[in-house]
Amino acid sequence: MLKPQIQAFFEAETFTYSYLVSDPQSKSCAIIDSVLDFDPASGNTATKSADLIIAAIKEQNLQLEWILETHVHADHLSAAPYLKAQLGGKIGIGAKITQVQEVFAEVFNTGSSFAKDGSQFDQLFNDGDRFQLGQFQIQVMHTPGHTPACITYLIADAAFVGDTLFMPDYGTARCDFPGGDAATLYQSIQKIFSLPAETRLFMCHDYLAPGRDNYLNETTVAEQQQENVHVGAGRSEADFVALRTKRDASLEMPRLILPSVQVNMRAGQFPPADDNGVSYLKLPLNLFK
Ligand SMILES: [Fe+2]
Repeated sequence: MLKPQIQAFFEAETFTYSYLVSDPQSKSCAIIDSVLDFDPASGNTATKSADLIIAAIKEQNLQLEWILETHVHADHLSAAPYLKAQLGGKIGIGAKITQVQEVFAEVFNTGSSFAKDGSQFDQLFNDGDRFQLGQFQIQVMHTPGHTPACITYLIADAAFVGDTLFMPDYGTARCDFPGGDAATLYQSIQKIFSLPAETRLFMCHDYLAPGRDNYLNETTVAEQQQENVHVGAGRSEADFVALRTKRDASLEMPRLILPSVQVNMRAGQFPPADDNGVSYLKLPLNLFK
């Protein structure tokens, strides 16, 4: 099978993997799940992480066609608008983003200036959609559960699964965000498990499972099926839901969820500037008690 080139970029502050996927023949490339560096104490953003990917693209003379998100991330800001301004390309996300926008428009009381129709993105993908990256076709799988809009991008033998799965020794992502659902995540993972056993799975995060000191980002369907500590070895849906629900009840809100969601639901754009030209993020007080 013809395979695309895949380069992983690890952002250590939020434990996020971004990917540069390219077709060596046509030089077309896509970036999956980029990171805009953000310091919540100062409110400053930086493009150090995004610039590393831009440098790799320029070095290889690649043409950026797609800037893809697997979901609205709750732990880091997306660098999609910066990447688009620098190199062009279209920003894409799952069509169910509208559900996420509905919920968080209310949380942040965004008013009528914020469209809840996904129009901030260039492309909204539905389950089964296919689009081209050079000689490769990327297939979209809707894999909700962590969020209602999560999608997996399948290209040749590689699947970018976002936060559906973590490395086998770490398990799965939480399902307690608005619109998240453990049983739905289980079903989405079964969809991923129905791919060929040797399919390579690329993680969006690695948080180091106890006893492991090297960050990892790649595994296979077979490995996950056998070894995933949450859903492997034939664990039933009921057992998974019980385990996931119990674990989620013990988790704190992610450190950057409020800044991240406000920016990422706008396709990475900052909220409209105030009359002094400065963009502000909101912090709802006592809403999530
Ligand atoms: Fe996530």
